[in-house]
Amino acid sequence: MSRSAPCTREQIQQLDQSDPLAFCRQRFTLPQHKIYLDGNSLGAMPAHVPARLEQVLKVEWAEGLINSWNDADWYPAPQRTGARIAGLIGALGHEVIVADSTSINLFKVLVAALRMQPSRRVILAENGNFPTDVYIAQGVAELTGCRLQCVDPEQVLDALSDQVAILSLTHVNYKTGRRYDMAAITARAHELGGLVVWDLCHSAGAMPVELNAAGADFAVGCGYKYLNGGPGAPAFVFVAERHIAQLRQPLTGWHGHAKPFDFSHDYQPHPSLDRMLVGTAPQLGVLALEAALEVFDGVDLHALRSKSLALSELFIRLCDEQLAGLGVQLQTPRDAQQRGSQVSLSHPQAYPVMQALIARGIVGDFRAPDILRFGFAPLYNRFEDIWTCVDALRDILVSEAWNQPQFLARKAVT
Ligand SMILES: Cc1ncc(COP(=O)(O)O)c(C=O)c1O
Repeated sequence: MSRSAPCTREQIQQLDQSDPLAFCRQRFTLPQHKIYLDGNSLGAMPAHVPARLEQVLKVEWAEGLINSWNDADWYPAPQRTGARIAGLIGALGHEVIVADSTSINLFKVLVAALRMQPSRRVILAENGNFPTDVYIAQGVAELTGCRLQCVDPEQVLDALSDQVAILSLTHVNYKTGRRYDMAAITARAHELGGLVVWDLCHSAGAMPVELNAAGADFAVGCGYKYLNGGPGAPAFVFVAERHIAQLRQPLTGWHGHAKPFDFSHDYQPHPSLDRMLVGTAPQLGVLALEAALEVFDGVDLHALRSKSLALSELFIRLCDEQLAGLGVQLQTPRDAQQRGSQVSLSHPQAYPVMQALIARGIVGDFRAPDILRFGFAPLYNRFEDIWTCVDALRDILVSEAWNQPQFLARKAVT
């Protein structure tokens, strides 16, 4: 397709025909008449997960009862599932475990990392990060007496100093889709003696992440976006091998104990990453996530990234061609290196515009105050979906179809 001539729907259909990942779409159950561009919020359902859950419920729970912790191998599922995620984020199997939520894992990791550097009292974080990351860091600062310093993303490198204990960043920003250079930032923080915590909510499963190649210390991320683990799926936590033995996390629950079934009086952390566990896992969620990860079988993560960038590139190009003069501004970097797997547009009427789009069966989401967010999940999104979306968006903006009472009333979840 030439870069200069406007592209046609037929040309775009050809991109789908030659897509090396096209075979992955059938691994999902997707509603027939919807275009789903919100996998960066809640991933689509892998088609085989209901059968796995039915087996868990009807056989392993109903018949196996408590014995399934041993007989159906429920107990080691957080480690097994963590090891599967490790392969997607450039980590060793024993450096990743599934537990709790992203927020809770962030709390555990921040406190543990502070304890590793008692002479340093600053947590450096970013303005504009997903609120839970900032709220948790505020809570940790209050609890530990540390200072939380938040700077704009462009100022992160300059703000690093030998006072900074932890740099806490999200690899891909939830609102703008901007992606940090993980290796360069981690290297600079290390030169100054700090530790780095990466939130991978918007990267795990959307692109190859190279935690160990980047020298990362800690990472957290959720299971329900590009990992497709389902609503409220448990999260994961990564700790670099070199830090595991000295890691002291604050939530000293019995599943993190060296010998949980000794029921001894005093806490003693497990020698392995099991020490990041707290209490009994939400087992149905862990098993659903474990099964969901099978959609990555045989998927080349570099092909995944190429498709993700091709989708976002096409979206940006079509917006340039079709939405010029309609009040829409691109909020995501044009430089592919700096882009995650989503594109965000701002518009003064973003909320009703998104509602009007959803009413036409095209699902993205809205982020306050004025962002239209479109996530591209390369395993199941098609190039033609992008065309249909931008075409509908243009029609909604030109006709002002968004300006109707049912689209203007705010719902609880946006
Ligand atoms: C960057 C980031 N961190 C954390 C979360 C959510 O954390 P939790 O799973 O604890 O609700 C999100 C949710 O969208 C997110 O985008």
